[in-house]
Amino acid sequence: MTTRQETTWFDTARFGMFVHWGHSSQRGCELSWPLVGGVTNLPFGGSVPVEEYHSTAFTFNPQQWDAKALARMAKDMGMQYAILTSKHHDGFSMFHTRQSDFSIEHAPYSQDIVRDFVAAMRAEGLRVGLYFSLIDWHHPDYPAFTESDKPYQFFNWKQPTPEQWERYTQFMFAQIRELLTNYGRIDVLWFDGGWERSIDQWKAYELEAMIRELQPEILINDRLPGFGDFDTPEQFIPAQPPARTWETCMTINESWGYNPSDTQLKSARQLIHALCEVAGKGGNLLLNVSPMGDGALPPEQVERLQTVGAWMAQHGESIVATAPGLEPWQFYGPSTRKGDCIYLHLLMQPYDSISVRGVPIKRVKSVQVLGSSQALAFSTRCAIVDAMFNPDPLGELTIPMPASAVDPYATVIKLEISPA
Ligand code: GLC
Repeated sequence: MTTRQETTWFDTARFGMFVHWGHSSQRGCELSWPLVGGVTNLPFGGSVPVEEYHSTAFTFNPQQWDAKALARMAKDMGMQYAILTSKHHDGFSMFHTRQSDFSIEHAPYSQDIVRDFVAAMRAEGLRVGLYFSLIDWHHPDYPAFTESDKPYQFFNWKQPTPEQWERYTQFMFAQIRELLTNYGRIDVLWFDGGWERSIDQWKAYELEAMIRELQPEILINDRLPGFGDFDTPEQFIPAQPPARTWETCMTINESWGYNPSDTQLKSARQLIHALCEVAGKGGNLLLNVSPMGDGALPPEQVERLQTVGAWMAQHGESIVATAPGLEPWQFYGPSTRKGDCIYLHLLMQPYDSISVRGVPIKRVKSVQVLGSSQALAFSTRCAIVDAMFNPDPLGELTIPMPASAVDPYATVIKLEISPA
């Protein structure tokens, strides 16, 4: 396994935006999976005949797409980076490519969406990543997935001839080269679909060498078999933080692409709690949004993003650029730290007071409700001998919690500890 060793911006970015979008968003169905008849982990994925699925490539004309507005929104939410599906498993390129006609360039919209996205995010000071599916269910040499290949079966992939595979890998390398050459600096390459072929088939060592040569600073996720600078748990928060840098990607409902039949949306509060938990464990949350066929975000997503953004405006200090805080036995909830401050995330309603254990009680300088200037009273305790003879004892902090201090989404208490 090849992994970068040095620390980077990504280690403490904490919050990013994933954008799953393609021509299928016009139909309001999941990206790619419907064309192979669906997959169990996407309960609202549905099934669409192959030709019918691909046909909306020729009508894609997202007149409401506003990359600048999306970038502003991501920035206002305290997000540090954004990642767009430059090509999903369905093989449709959201960028201008010399390798095929199956791209946005030949759709009615014709403009290069990747270019637009990269420029807009960059202009807001965000880092930029591109999602790229290694699988291509449309390319004849992959070979393309057809109606007669249904149902999709894991571990029974249709195999190409050696000649076909040679042509496909050349095509794939050339597309990745385009993405890493034509758009300036790309911060993250987010592969997907690696499961259908082996390390050797993907020519993964050669591919990695090309990527690092074209973009020496780039981070590569763990979905190119055998490689990865970071782990990508999908739709869940790992029970124990992985050993290396990690990022949980998560949808607002149960779908990646715009899918109005999927009404199982998480509340803004659930999303905020996920963010607090991820930050408390030292990971990043890559929150997915799903533009519609016309390019606008669905209103039910906007509503949640705005609420998360308003919470972040007051509490972002406790999330972005933080390190994990206390040990689980010290406080009932996630916590983070930055400099001399510890941030406690209250994800359950407090009763009367909260307790923090094993802290240097004589050095607690202030206890504050983050986002308001409200200072909270507190009391401390420790073993009697420590109180008498230890100049810097560890002990217990009790903070009475007035109802007025409770935030409707997640209360954050900031402890300032003087240096020893
Ligand atoms: C899965 C799916 C894909 C989605 C991705 C995001 O592997 O195949 O549809 O884009 O996860 O993490």
